[in-house]
Amino acid sequence: MKAQFEFDILIIGSGAAGLTLALKLAKHGKIAVLSKGDLTSGSTWLAQGGVAAVIDDLDIEQKHAEDTLTAGGNLSHDDAVNFTVEHGRESIDWLIEQGVPFSKENGQLHLTQEGGHSHRRIIHAADSTGRAILQTLIKNAQAEPTIQLFEDSMAIDLITSTKLGLSGDKCLGAYVLNSKSGEIAVFKAQQTVLATGGASKSYLYTSNSDGASGDGIAMAWRSGCRVANLEFNQFHPTCLYHPQAKSFLISEAVRGEGGKLRLPDGSTFMHKFDKRAELAPRDIVARAIDHEMKRLGADCLYLDISHRDDQFIKSHFPTIYQRCQELGIDMCKQAIPIVPAAHYTCGGVISDIHGNTDIAGLYAIGETAFTGLHGANRLASNSLLECIVFASACAIDIQFKLEEKFDYPTIPAWDESQVTDSDEDVIIAHNWDELRRFMWDYVGIVRTDKRLQRAKHRSDLLQAEISEYYSNYKISKDLLELRNLSLVAELIIQSAMLRKESRGLHFTLDYPNLAPQARDTILTPINYQWPS
Ligand code: FAD
Ligand code: SIN
Repeated sequence: MKAQFEFDILIIGSGAAGLTLALKLAKHGKIAVLSKGDLTSGSTWLAQGGVAAVIDDLDIEQKHAEDTLTAGGNLSHDDAVNFTVEHGRESIDWLIEQGVPFSKENGQLHLTQEGGHSHRRIIHAADSTGRAILQTLIKNAQAEPTIQLFEDSMAIDLITSTKLGLSGDKCLGAYVLNSKSGEIAVFKAQQTVLATGGASKSYLYTSNSDGASGDGIAMAWRSGCRVANLEFNQFHPTCLYHPQAKSFLISEAVRGEGGKLRLPDGSTFMHKFDKRAELAPRDIVARAIDHEMKRLGADCLYLDISHRDDQFIKSHFPTIYQRCQELGIDMCKQAIPIVPAAHYTCGGVISDIHGNTDIAGLYAIGETAFTGLHGANRLASNSLLECIVFASACAIDIQFKLEEKFDYPTIPAWDESQVTDSDEDVIIAHNWDELRRFMWDYVGIVRTDKRLQRAKHRSDLLQAEISEYYSNYKISKDLLELRNLSLVAELIIQSAMLRKESRGLHFTLDYPNLAPQARDTILTPINYQWPS
């Protein structure tokens, strides 16, 4: 008999979104929180810059909303934008109540600056804001008797009444692989929440950790949920360029505090691309860097804050300073070599203001969700804010739904009778590399129809191979991630092919202008077909 667990709420993901939700619901039911690695394995742990919110007396919510809309290429949804900025202050207050040690100056929260913001409004804990938030939330969640935290527990797929051949489209929980023991258990839940983060690992170069394989998007899609705007994968302009520095970000706050982008000859160039220069939104800065690197055949460009005094640099950017030092770069004296890298998935599982998806009993929050907030390009530091705001709203909806509980049908155990152990794991490693390489080359910062066609062709071949492998061999964490990543890559390519304009993060040489009307790209699993 395989293990079966039963909870009121199953939260898949232990980042800012998942743990905020768990803490908000701690008094309302029995909760399971899953992480496929350790509890710190998502993007939240890596977040540097901070959380955007209107705190300063001279700042106003309307300006935060306008900045979000402008950065988002006027594709963001007004309701999601207003809802988010209006709940900014209370989200910060809640994090402070939880015990997050945000940086202060003269007894007040210190506000830093980032690209696209018309005011200083980034609340931060030096340059490791995500770590400060997550450490606090983990500690508090561990103290709650109703919250059970499961590490190395990877959701494979959602269990829905439709998949069981029953009427009513309802989510009943998930099949979960314990990647240490290899056991697969059924986690039944009255309400299931996807808080699984983004899919930036679909690109060769990324600021994200290895787990950013879009699992939530893939699981939701396979269960029948619509997804939106997946062509808008954000590239962060400044990741450290060094052979030993895997995925290390140089925070946008470095530019916010006066850092200049330089060509290899030391000259600045951003003023030629945008009047906001280094503080233009990310899509513009990343494209400018990409353009200059290609024009000069340069492997990297440089970010220089060495004109600020040493004490300022070391106290505001201790993590970045230390990492650079370890690699022999003294940012107090020299410019830091940088390149753009995939950073954030703006699209995702379509969800409303409370996180409801297309399936009853299934929610999506945080980076995996598409709420309409980010439009065609996310404004810096709006993501952690979105995690807190939408997790809080989701908690209210779930409390209400838990008032009426349903009985579970019989849920079969995971069936492994038709599969064998693989003797060809090299296929997984090979396909993983190939996928991320063609996504980088053909679906990257600058696109064309021809490049997208090439990517589609390769994606078709990979999909067929992975699907055949999945049907015949026992699953592993690597195989599941590859399967999810290749599906999400396919959805990214399809979304990019459908957008016949350049807007925000989607820039194509074949359609360099804006279309007259701003529209979301919505994909529906039913009757799913490639565009011609
Ligand atoms: P994550 O924090 O990514 O957590 C995902 C969780 O889901 C993990 O626990 C993971 O183990 C789990 N998971 C995934 N798949 C499965 C599965 N199949 N089964 C079980 N568990 C699963 N945003 C800002 O607003 N400000 C910043 O300063 C900032 N800096 C950033 C710096 C870096 C380097 C990066 C990478 C991102 C940054 N971002 C920033 C973006 C922001 O950190 C993320 O968007 C946000 O933290 C996402 O939180 P989340 O809770 O949605 O997911
Ligand atoms: C950064 O610190 O540059 C990351 C901020 C973000 O992704 O919002």
